[in-house]
Amino acid sequence: MLLAALKGKNQERPPVWIMRQAGRYLPEYRALRQKHSLRDLFLTPELAAQVTKMPIDILGVDAAILFSDITIIALALGLNLDFAEGPVISGTIQPVDVRHALKPVAEAIQIVKPQLNVPLLGFCGAPFTVASYILERHNGQNLPATKKMIYQDPKAFTKLLDQITDATIDYLRLQEESGVDAIQIFDSWAHVLSKEHFDAFCAPYMKRLIESVNVPVILFMRGACTRIEELVSLNPAAISFDWQTPLSEMRKRVPMAVQGNLDPDLLYAPLPVIRQKTEELLASMGNDPGFIVNLGHGMKPDMSVDAVRCFIDTVKGAARFKNETSRIS
Ligand code: CP3
Repeated sequence: MLLAALKGKNQERPPVWIMRQAGRYLPEYRALRQKHSLRDLFLTPELAAQVTKMPIDILGVDAAILFSDITIIALALGLNLDFAEGPVISGTIQPVDVRHALKPVAEAIQIVKPQLNVPLLGFCGAPFTVASYILERHNGQNLPATKKMIYQDPKAFTKLLDQITDATIDYLRLQEESGVDAIQIFDSWAHVLSKEHFDAFCAPYMKRLIESVNVPVILFMRGACTRIEELVSLNPAAISFDWQTPLSEMRKRVPMAVQGNLDPDLLYAPLPVIRQKTEELLASMGNDPGFIVNLGHGMKPDMSVDAVRCFIDTVKGAARFKNETSRIS
């Protein structure tokens, strides 16, 4: 279903998964976190595989996303990575054997893949967003250190982007060889850039990532609705949109598959409201063969499993498909 939708050829109900589906809102995840540090969960293949599979078993989502983090790439750049409130990267970039540094991720993929009956998504951060995690502690401000470097020393910033891109390409190829079915690129911070800087410091590096693998690539960018033409020209298999603009409107300007786009905070609403808003999204997209249901961004740790289940079940029971007997896979 998901892979068919990525080709724009899905004839069944639309597939559904959720960004941050493998995480703290699940009691089973919290129990595991009591015993292990976040770093250990990410870097112990058996544990990462176990968390990857949790939302499939508990919620029945239509895709698994590898349990890892976009900042793991720091290890492939010879940097140190710790987790406090959020990821903390330190040290100086140095040459590293990427395949060796990220071997635990490859092993996690190899362990979980045969246990899944749904496609497995790998992922990475877009080079611009990863650069911002290297250059500053994220605290909700508009990336002061990153923006400063862009204006003060664009050459050095470009070098940093090149180093991240080279390591990320190796990392994506490793994920592909290990068995992921598709890849999502997360550009969580590109929305702080002007169009000129987006064109210079984001788009070319995303393009290199997209062209480096054979599996379909989903592009997530916060604020994607402000950069539709630019993202379309990168030619990913799908573009993931946040919730500021109705998906059905953006669909008119996007020839490839689209993913999204309910406001994640909808999952705080009473269940009937969740059901209604999900049905409205489904209805607005008709029988679109290239539509993947998701939230507009990641879900939050204090959201209830019941709310998530209501969202998933509403998509799975989509009324307009209820009378169908034959389903094409
Ligand atoms: O989607 C999934 O369920 C798969 C796993 C996943 C994680 N991080 C695990 C994680 C994915 C896809 C990510 C991507 C990621 N990580 C992004 C891009 C998506 C986005 O949200 O924009 C970013 C920016 C990060 C960086 C990051 N990692 C932050 C800011 C934080 C701390 C804030 C937070 O949300 O907790 C993390 C830690 C992190 N990554 C956790 C998880 C499950 C928290 C785990 C814990 O504390 O137990």
